[in-house]
Amino acid sequence: MKIEYQETTNDLLKRIDIHKQFGGRDIDQWMINLLRPAMDAKILDVGCGAGKQCFLYHEYTDGKADITGGDVNPELLEKARSENAKKGNPIKFIELDFNQRFPLDDNQFDIESCCFAIYYAADIPFTIREMHRVLKPGGRLFTTGPMPTNKKVFYEIIKEASGKPIPPMPGSSRYSTAILETIRAAFSSVEVHIFENPLTFPTVEPFLDYTRASLSEDRKLWTSLFSGKDEFEQLMEKIAAVAERRLKQDGQLVMTKVVGGFVAIK
Ligand SMILES: C[S@@+](CC[C@H](N)C(=O)[O-])C[C@H]1O[C@@H](n2cnc3c(N)ncnc32)[C@H](O)[C@@H]1O
Repeated sequence: MKIEYQETTNDLLKRIDIHKQFGGRDIDQWMINLLRPAMDAKILDVGCGAGKQCFLYHEYTDGKADITGGDVNPELLEKARSENAKKGNPIKFIELDFNQRFPLDDNQFDIESCCFAIYYAADIPFTIREMHRVLKPGGRLFTTGPMPTNKKVFYEIIKEASGKPIPPMPGSSRYSTAILETIRAAFSSVEVHIFENPLTFPTVEPFLDYTRASLSEDRKLWTSLFSGKDEFEQLMEKIAAVAERRLKQDGQLVMTKVVGGFVAIK
């Protein structure tokens, strides 16, 4: 499968910020409670983006864990490295494309995570094999991604505003099915955990900011709904009208993120 998608730095950071401001629960806390990495753990984060999970592990282990983050996007890696420099470079940030052999030896890591990224892999069984290869026997792989009931309100509003079906997302359409099955086949055991986080928007503006940072042309995920900047703006106006109407009707807009956390043991 060829996936055109690419993450864009500003859009990713915008979405992270909106979760922080309007979310009722903290996904970092959920993840760290599930994993509880040992203080001296050797940890790899694949698709690390600007380093969100790497910095979380660093803080949780009081700087004692040996942490590596890998990503394919040089701009996001640059962000991660500049934050890392402020802390004295405790984390290794490397170029890693999960569509190619990882530049890492076998059986190295106690914990490996891949948060909101694995579904962008072109060949899921290949990427899962690479993830399995670099983990120590008994090591744990943790992945996160959207479950089928994720962000119902968001998709309903876009569907109504555009009058078109939602394009199949490489993420939500495969994460709880083909990807989970592939992990189950490769690992000795897999647990499925669910994290639900309602994002409550008192006005439409933050919802529209979130929508812009999701539909953004540069991400190449929503190309079936608009082509070019003008059509994008026209669609955004329609989305604003539908969101405004729903907000008046219900008093607030609640968009619930439903995330699956898979913990697999090698
Ligand atoms: C939604 S972001 C999540 C980033 C980070 N894990 C977080 O939660 O903030 C998805 C990440 O997957 C990365 N990614 C996409 N394709 C990739 C590939 N082929 N190899 C490695 N990383 C990739 C993107 O560059 C981006 O950093």
